[in-house]
Amino acid sequence: MNNAKDLKDKYISFFESKGHKKIESAPVVPENDPSVLFNTAGMQPLIPYLMGEVHPAGTRLVDYQKCIRTNDLDEVGDKTHHTFFEMLGNWSLGDYFKKETISWSFEFLTQVLNIPVERLAVTVFKGDEDLPRDEESLSIWKSLGIKEDRIAFLGKEDNFWIAGETGPCGTDTEMFYFRSDDPIPEKYDPEDDRWVEIWNDVFMDHYKHEDGTFTELPKKNVDTGMGYERVVAVLENKDDNYMTSIWDNARNKLIEIANLPYEGNEKSMRIILDHIRTAVFISSDDAGIKPSNTDQGYILRRLIRRAIRHAKHLNIDINSNWDEELALIFIEEYKKYYSELERNKEVVINVLKDEKIKFNRTLEKGLKEFEKEIKKIENNIINKDIAFKLYDTYGFPIELTVELAGEKGLSVDTEGFKEKFKAHQELSRTASQGKFKGGMAGNSEIETKYHTATHLLNAALKEVLGSHVHQKGSNITAERLRFDFSNPEKVSKEDLQKVEDLVNEKIKEDLPVSYEIMSKDDAIKAGAEGMFMDRYEDEVKVYSIGDFSKEICGGPHVEHTNVLGHFKIKKEEASSAGVRRIKAILE
Ligand code: ALA
Repeated sequence: MNNAKDLKDKYISFFESKGHKKIESAPVVPENDPSVLFNTAGMQPLIPYLMGEVHPAGTRLVDYQKCIRTNDLDEVGDKTHHTFFEMLGNWSLGDYFKKETISWSFEFLTQVLNIPVERLAVTVFKGDEDLPRDEESLSIWKSLGIKEDRIAFLGKEDNFWIAGETGPCGTDTEMFYFRSDDPIPEKYDPEDDRWVEIWNDVFMDHYKHEDGTFTELPKKNVDTGMGYERVVAVLENKDDNYMTSIWDNARNKLIEIANLPYEGNEKSMRIILDHIRTAVFISSDDAGIKPSNTDQGYILRRLIRRAIRHAKHLNIDINSNWDEELALIFIEEYKKYYSELERNKEVVINVLKDEKIKFNRTLEKGLKEFEKEIKKIENNIINKDIAFKLYDTYGFPIELTVELAGEKGLSVDTEGFKEKFKAHQELSRTASQGKFKGGMAGNSEIETKYHTATHLLNAALKEVLGSHVHQKGSNITAERLRFDFSNPEKVSKEDLQKVEDLVNEKIKEDLPVSYEIMSKDDAIKAGAEGMFMDRYEDEVKVYSIGDFSKEICGGPHVEHTNVLGHFKIKKEEASSAGVRRIKAILE
């Protein structure tokens, strides 16, 4: 097959024909989950529903989700790593289970993608002290015509899936494709890397607790994940993901800009292509991320700066609009699937422009400083003070220093740097708790309480300050809620007190919290608040707290308000122009 870019469309129509409802990709920045910087898997935005919340679009869903994984950012440059990728997924929320899942996966692979059965192998969970061997999946695969020699039983390291340490999880069955012109071996060998994973069907029916124990979830769910770039590479018979039709236009443009062939310059070209594409997706997100020195903004900064450095490496005139030209190609390629790219095109271009100006100002000086410093070092290690100076004065992300050092055969005291960095920046608590590693959405009891308290606060602010108040952002941790809302000026002490009192009054009234599923139009007519009106599906879930609050929201929430305890506003401050921020706690 020469062009498999239409894989997404085929996937969606196939599962629509099996009664699934297509849902939009969630933003790359999670809306209500401070435990992760980015969505790293298709299931992440669906966690509340996997935990039992009712989804307004029903129990069979299908989508392609924008995902960003930055834990192996430094691996980008080889044939297969990307920081941004799309994950195709079909979900059963307590609807069908193993039989339909596996049969449809098989049908899609063999009937729609026309993959010959001879090229397929599968793995199934072998069983351990926690969970039994997956006999059911074995017999389904066999009944479909997969030979026993092509079925391997593996343990939790391979056939079990969870997004972090705790949360919804389950055993899985994975599908592999034989990607080689060699004769296909009769027996599947999981160690033989000519077999590449193409799809993962996770049977999410358990919850893993902090103490390591498992309990059953209220419903048996299915979460499947098919990596778009990898499967397109397989279908187009390319062993370099960057050589597929997904990248053709951007890669050709880059070859033209650099006036160099791809062969021999692969590493820098892949890094530039990957990083600019990811920067486009981060900066076009409605969350409004801008390059900065913390959290998502820091990742965005690192990506842009690393791309610039590799552009320099290819002797591209970095002051030309090479980055804009590439960004426009990505926007053009993807806008059919992600409308925010077109909508926020100017934002993306400005982010790239501004960051380039900032980095340019210091890059040359920083490189000189780097060269000067390494002449002085004795034990081949760049110490934390030099690394910090390069970061602080010249804007070098630590990864850039590490990369430059690597090119000279030197290493960097990154641990020492991190300590200095932490002390200096007082990294936000969540970041230092390991947000960079990824993790689970906050669905703990206390976070659920904060979620309901946020709705009360939103309604109370509107009542006290006026109907111009709308939510602009929300972030919940186990310690506090943070709420951003539109208001032209500082909120007076008296008004803050009124808001606090009103929330506490509503808590004491013990109002019932309930939801209804309705059309978006009806929700708007009913006066429901909603932050992402143009992104909601046709059917939405509307949570009401007595007659006091009505908001479009996925949940979860407490059932009635008096479990919230006492509400206290700790701080009111500016967030950005025309937007105020309140931090509050429950005690
Ligand atoms: N959640 C599963 C994965 O990411 C499907 O592989």
